[in-house]
Amino acid sequence: MEPYRIKVVEPIASTTREQRREALVRVHYNLFGLRADEVTIDLLTDSGTGALSAAQLAACVSGDESYAGSRSFLRFHRAVEALTGYPHILPVHQGRAAERVLFSTLLKPGHITLSNTHFDTTRANVELNGCTALDLPCAEALDLDSDEPFKGNIDVARLEKALGGPEAGRIALVIMTLTNNGGGGQPVSMDNLSRAADLCRSAGVPIVLDAARFAENAWLVTRHEPAYRGHSPRQVAEEAFALADGCLMSAKKDGITHIGGFLGLRDAELARRCEQLLVATEGFPTYGGLAGRDLDMIAQGLAEVTEPEYLQSRADASHHLARLTRAAGISLVEPPGLHALYLNAGRLLPHIPPHQYPGHALACRLYLEGGIRSVELGSLYLGKEDAQGRPITTAPYELLRLALPRRTYTRDHLDHVGEVLARTAESADRIPGYRITEQPPALRHFRVKLAPL
Ligand code: F0G
Repeated sequence: MEPYRIKVVEPIASTTREQRREALVRVHYNLFGLRADEVTIDLLTDSGTGALSAAQLAACVSGDESYAGSRSFLRFHRAVEALTGYPHILPVHQGRAAERVLFSTLLKPGHITLSNTHFDTTRANVELNGCTALDLPCAEALDLDSDEPFKGNIDVARLEKALGGPEAGRIALVIMTLTNNGGGGQPVSMDNLSRAADLCRSAGVPIVLDAARFAENAWLVTRHEPAYRGHSPRQVAEEAFALADGCLMSAKKDGITHIGGFLGLRDAELARRCEQLLVATEGFPTYGGLAGRDLDMIAQGLAEVTEPEYLQSRADASHHLARLTRAAGISLVEPPGLHALYLNAGRLLPHIPPHQYPGHALACRLYLEGGIRSVELGSLYLGKEDAQGRPITTAPYELLRLALPRRTYTRDHLDHVGEVLARTAESADRIPGYRITEQPPALRHFRVKLAPL
């Protein structure tokens, strides 16, 4: 059971099917356009959508809002240093700001970054610096149905080849994303991380963690990596940070806060250069774009997020919803991770070709059917078409992500999602595909307009 009880509640929307049908028309079938009060269960993201603990709220009230050297910064610094071991810690307003500050400082045009899988903002920030982001996911990641426990791993053989290959001189950074959000929320094993770190050290290339979900990764390591069975998630997390040269962190995930993040570094000279950019663009180094109360709540959230009972209940919730999904006859990326389920919409809707966006079609139907908001991760997100709508590239899989906000929804809420999935699957053959009517030139999924076929 959940290791907490509820003290503060917020009403959620109850809408009629007709209201939801009208809302879909109004937002041109793009769920990012919905008002939050039109959504009953919001599974769009697990980022910044968690519930605060009483201890976090208390920390919020005791936040020190001094411009420089606040008590809140000192508490934040102590908490992050104790967890990561990095001597240089720069607060930032969220994960992508840490990416921008580090990449703008470290990368030069023409450089290459390697990763198990870059998250989309990470890739965008690499590319904005005139560099190339290359993903090297392990072969096991390609089989969505297999039960392999560490499908978030980097392909060590390809990493070794790249670091010793003709382009080696251009490789400036290796980024290990824990857990691998772009790759189905799958974890990275400690064995894989330590092999990657050894290769980077021999090649003289820095390795950093994209640590947004470090605690969830550590939990899965304690469950599935035999050498870590008796370890606590906190011990695994500390060891993971120790293997790297630094980290990029979005505290909106495993900091369990609504905003915030940090950049942690070992290298004093690199940290000094990053700090200069931070002062110019984020804020003074003892607040970095955050209020003192945010820093305090992150410090407390980082202490709570590795508690085994909390992580166990999070895993139980995701497994519960995974069972309901399978029982509805819908397959998902196996094994389910902790922060989200990735439903195989392509398999559920074989009558909808990739460039008519089966994942998006399923997202719209789940909203119409039960007020559930989710996000497509398929050819709407990753694909490209020519002016006539003919596909140029399609995504490898047509997925739909149901993200699970932290400490926010109860089993009853998840049971509602399960019922909606079951009803939706029963009439899956009547779900229409979509065509794009208008789209922006980049990051189209946020603002694209569509119409059903
Ligand atoms: N890295 C990973 C692995 C992420 O999942 C995200 C955000 C970021 C970096 C960027 O952090 O949002 O604080 O700037 N992921 C959210 C999501 C948006 O829904 O998966 P941010």
